[in-house]
Amino acid sequence: MAEALQNYVDGKWVDAVDGERFDVFNPATGEVIATAPHSKREDVDAAVAAARRVFDDGEWWPGTPSRERGRILLRAGEIVRRELERLARMESLDTGKPIEDGREDVGEVAFMFEYYGGWATKIDGDAQHLDADRMFMVWKEPVGVAAGITPWNYPMMMATQKLAAGLAAGCTFVLKPPEQTPLTGLELPKILEEAGLPTGVFHVLTGFGETAGAPLVEHPGVDKICFTGSREVGKIIMRSGAETLKRVTLELGGKSPNIVFADSDLPSAFEGTGNGVFWNQGEICSAGTRVFVDRSVYDDAVNAFVDRAKTIRLGDGLDEETTMGPLISLEQKDRVSRYIEIGTSEAKLAGQGSLPDDRRLANGYFVAPTVFADVDNSATIAREEIFGPVMSVIPFQDVDDVVRLANDTEYGLAAAVWTTDIKKALRTAQALRAGIVWINDSQPAPTEMPWGGYKQSGIGRELGKEGLEDFLEKKSVYVNLA
Ligand code: NAI
Ligand code: MG
Repeated sequence: MAEALQNYVDGKWVDAVDGERFDVFNPATGEVIATAPHSKREDVDAAVAAARRVFDDGEWWPGTPSRERGRILLRAGEIVRRELERLARMESLDTGKPIEDGREDVGEVAFMFEYYGGWATKIDGDAQHLDADRMFMVWKEPVGVAAGITPWNYPMMMATQKLAAGLAAGCTFVLKPPEQTPLTGLELPKILEEAGLPTGVFHVLTGFGETAGAPLVEHPGVDKICFTGSREVGKIIMRSGAETLKRVTLELGGKSPNIVFADSDLPSAFEGTGNGVFWNQGEICSAGTRVFVDRSVYDDAVNAFVDRAKTIRLGDGLDEETTMGPLISLEQKDRVSRYIEIGTSEAKLAGQGSLPDDRRLANGYFVAPTVFADVDNSATIAREEIFGPVMSVIPFQDVDDVVRLANDTEYGLAAAVWTTDIKKALRTAQALRAGIVWINDSQPAPTEMPWGGYKQSGIGRELGKEGLEDFLEKKSVYVNLA
């Protein structure tokens, strides 16, 4: 029997007002594992009204001392560590990702609570004397009611990196987890309730983008939207959020370059480049899918990537042997398969891994890891975000050539540079128009480090100190002592 999940509104577990539900699938088998409330505008209204009331009454901020706000988050981190294995299995079941990756995600979730728990007591302002009589102060206050709209590739992390920063700042918070993967988002209220979070500070509503996400974005009672997802929806949110001049943080997609210079430590460059595309089924906004390789080592690189794709073991994420799970949905499988078809007509299909042969997984949403060689940077597969395990390898001549190609994209989320020449590494990093540049690595996103995009990859930053600042308003207080 599929579990019937419920919303968490004003401290109570409830169904959608109209009682409608939708199915949640195990992507490895296509089986229904749960049903969740199909929330609509009236559900959003109830959650926002409660979050607004608690914020406006000052029950949470300034009512709860910053030391206590911090302690609640630190306790939440401890609870997540205690429940790590259970939560990791839940995340793996819901997303399809290998269980070991689920454990890593949940471990980072625990740290996010701890990290922002530490920040709660370190939000300071500023002051300046203009002369003997006149001075001003700058106070930092929470922006108010924040809403998080999150995607399915790292469900618990994407929710927590917004939520923990928002709570540390003193905001109240409404979360709409992704319709594909609502399970771990609904664990967050249990964790925070046990940690001592007062009733009404945090609410979770499951549902679809147009019916549950859009009313949050349009709601006059919501002050800030933090969104991670597609560029198309990011634009919709900016447009409809403009009506109430909402603060928005948008973390959108990418088509990130990964540059392998001939003077890099080639085995680790090839290995790291492969991870940067194939990790998490390639369902990563910052995946380094445009792989630029110096002509002199190009053939070796393509062979190494094909070998890598062939050794990947596709399967059920809960099987410890699995190194790549299914994609998130049938829709996503079809979308990625279409791109592979397009790629076959645009470039050379250099090699592919193999699908699982387990009959139990016959209806799972699997796509084999795929390497395209001799790709032109203007090809569809080099321009559009695929969000699947598909690599495009592109040869280059010299530094100027590769920087020009790497920057020739509408996106600007991340980039990776592989070289042992420190000057070349830093000069290239300077020239790249991207929010994150890795040197001799690909994909690490430590909670301490700000995360966000240039150009059409987004607005604002999450994580790190910047991620907290985005939940704070600045109030200038002028004092005349004369
Ligand atoms: P999406 O952008 O539609 O969904 C992300 C979140 O936004 C979900 O919670 C969804 O319910 C919500 N949403 C959708 N439409 C909305 C609206 N009109 N108003 C408010 N909220 C709305 O992404 P989707 O459809 O799941 O995936 C499509 C593509 O988006 C992927 O193939 C990938 O290219 C990209 N994507 C990028 C992610 C990233 O990490 N930057 C994560 C997920 C998807
Ligand atoms: Mg969508």
